[in-house]
Amino acid sequence: MPIVFHKKTKEFHLYNSEISYIFCILKNGQPGQIYYGEKIKDRDSFQHLIEYSFRDMAPCTYEGDRTFSMEYLKQEYPSYGHGDMRYPAYEILQEDGSRITEFVFEDYVILKGKRKLTGLPAVYAESDEEAETLEIYLRDRVMNTRMILSYTIFEQLPVILRNTRFIQEGESCITLEHAMSLSLDLPDDRYEMITLTGAWARERYIKKAPLHEGVQAIYSMRGHSSHQFNPFFALKRPEATEDTGEVIGISLVYSGNFLGQTVVDTFGVARAMIGIHPEVFSWTLKKGEIFQTPEAVLVYSNKGLGKMSRTFHRLYHRRLVRGFWRDRVRPVVINNWEATYMDFTEEKILKIAETAKELGVEMMVLDDGWFGHRDDDTSSLGDWYPNPKKLPHGIRGLAEKIENMGMKFGLWIEPEMVNKDSRLYAEHPDWVIGVPYRDSCHGRNQYVLDFSKEEVVEYIGDQISGLLKEAPISYIKWDMNRSISEAFSQGRSREEQGKLFHKYILGVYSLYDRFTTDFPEVLFESCASGGARFDPGMLYYAPQCWTSDNTDAVERIRIQYGTSLVYPLSSMGCHVSEVPNQQTFRNTPLATRAETAYFGCFGYEMDLNTLTEEEKQEVREQIRYYKRIRKLIMDGAFYRLVSPFEAEEAAWMVVSEDKKHALAGYYRMRQPANAPLKRLVLKGLDPDIRYQIRETGLEAGGDELMHAGMAISDFACGIRKQKERQGDYQSRLFELTAVS
Ligand code: DGJ
Repeated sequence: MPIVFHKKTKEFHLYNSEISYIFCILKNGQPGQIYYGEKIKDRDSFQHLIEYSFRDMAPCTYEGDRTFSMEYLKQEYPSYGHGDMRYPAYEILQEDGSRITEFVFEDYVILKGKRKLTGLPAVYAESDEEAETLEIYLRDRVMNTRMILSYTIFEQLPVILRNTRFIQEGESCITLEHAMSLSLDLPDDRYEMITLTGAWARERYIKKAPLHEGVQAIYSMRGHSSHQFNPFFALKRPEATEDTGEVIGISLVYSGNFLGQTVVDTFGVARAMIGIHPEVFSWTLKKGEIFQTPEAVLVYSNKGLGKMSRTFHRLYHRRLVRGFWRDRVRPVVINNWEATYMDFTEEKILKIAETAKELGVEMMVLDDGWFGHRDDDTSSLGDWYPNPKKLPHGIRGLAEKIENMGMKFGLWIEPEMVNKDSRLYAEHPDWVIGVPYRDSCHGRNQYVLDFSKEEVVEYIGDQISGLLKEAPISYIKWDMNRSISEAFSQGRSREEQGKLFHKYILGVYSLYDRFTTDFPEVLFESCASGGARFDPGMLYYAPQCWTSDNTDAVERIRIQYGTSLVYPLSSMGCHVSEVPNQQTFRNTPLATRAETAYFGCFGYEMDLNTLTEEEKQEVREQIRYYKRIRKLIMDGAFYRLVSPFEAEEAAWMVVSEDKKHALAGYYRMRQPANAPLKRLVLKGLDPDIRYQIRETGLEAGGDELMHAGMAISDFACGIRKQKERQGDYQSRLFELTAVS
């Protein structure tokens, strides 16, 4: 049993073979954090780890006891204003204007497996045996509000899942103004905060900063999780590396506004939190109503960032992604976006598809520009019927032709958006988010539909379902190309406005739910101007996500490397595009572009007709190669070897579960002259297996490859003047197969 309750001391100990999470009910009835980290043996009491301290000037709970101060005690879900002066995990505005609460422990329950969250994406347990859930019931007697803190621990993974529910059982209305999914008080602040930050076309760069007194935060107030900050951060010991030392990873299964922060007080306690951003959030609950926070995921690693990532990968690949595509390899696609933009006809698309098919591509994806009268970004979003000028036989006609060629057909949509130049806007101008008597910002000439309204979601859902029913569509790329500004839901009361952002994303989830239920075999790829909504919430519905609009191989190495901190290779859409690259104007070899894109869901984003015969042959071989290794890429364990954020080179590798097959990629951004000798040290292999390296013919033991490494100086250092694949932006693959 991984969850133990010690009745006498009211202590809960959640543990498995790797981690322990211990908290207790303090004497004021509120839960106090005791320990989170590497597994320690259970005992009757860990009370000696609770640091009651006598401090002058502290706000104290009990008269006569100056050691019990919420300001110094480590807590599980701290409240505002009742002795703790630090940032709270929640705040409730009451009818009399007071914000003081006192949730006191009433009871608990331990459940096998894990409950589903209503309307929200969440990690799941496939059987009752693989996880156990603890729910702590607390009540504020004045408001008569119930709070349920939920903790799930996995039997086989160093993972804790948390969320909170508020249930109003009293007569008064209460307003949640702040409700984090997780709060964790750590006993010291000797950590570095790792975040994934960026912008359009340079998403998820790895950033690191030591914790310091005060607040360090990442956030989105854009209505989607954003290019700028991913809903994830890690706290890593300064001495921890990729492969050693303690790291705590915190991720939020949510796609809307979020706040992730660490607050260090002046006594060295680090309080980490993640949840919905409190800015413009307010949620009124009447009697009988419930609010459920999104789920937060805590991953503990005693072996550096690498193990943290592999834990996230396993969890998200196998217990967040669901359905038909979870365990299936993904098709090699060709997407026409960078080939044609919106300037295409059925004939042009069929020509692209024919050549692609001939070279081995399995699916043709038609991107933006097929609907209404859309020839540029000023019109037609919202009008999801085909443009007869471009597609005289409709989507169905085109899709059937593609199917008849022996390929699958995929379609781009952007269901959350509308252009003013559209039938939808003419009929329903009030369906747009914005203050009607003020100017609204557009983003790429488009406006955001108010997905907090059921009728809007239903209308868009009906249009797109119609297409999915009518035509053989096997894949949908669901895009979202702007942030939400002027957040205002027309026709709704003042009180309802604070719900807009959260309800919006619930609307998005409900539409995804409808589509994935009605069309379970359609493969969904989420997208938001590239990777602005690359988050665990989306992965619950769409098993893969377009990683970035930046398809330049050199930039992609950084973006994919950063993304891999949390997200599995099976979730990253990675395509080869033409050169010079359309985002960076850089020329990179076709081989490097493919060898970067192999480490994800592979495809092409170009017109293959523009290639020479020799290049076409290269593409044919690339596709053949990817098909052979894609199972390894999908299911293998991922190891980062050399960081592109620290050098002009990068390397990573994937190892199969049985460790008999592995693929390493080495990338060199710039060719050095007469550089030091270099060995590439591999990871994750079986020390007792002898491997053959396909590209070099070398045979070596796993132990040798993981300790002595592979000599790659010829290629990496430019010391020999071998002409082939020298120069900038080169890459090499090393495929390892067990020979004994
Ligand atoms: C942004 C996406 O990231 C691109 O791949 C493409 O689909 C365009 N939108 C289409 O407008």
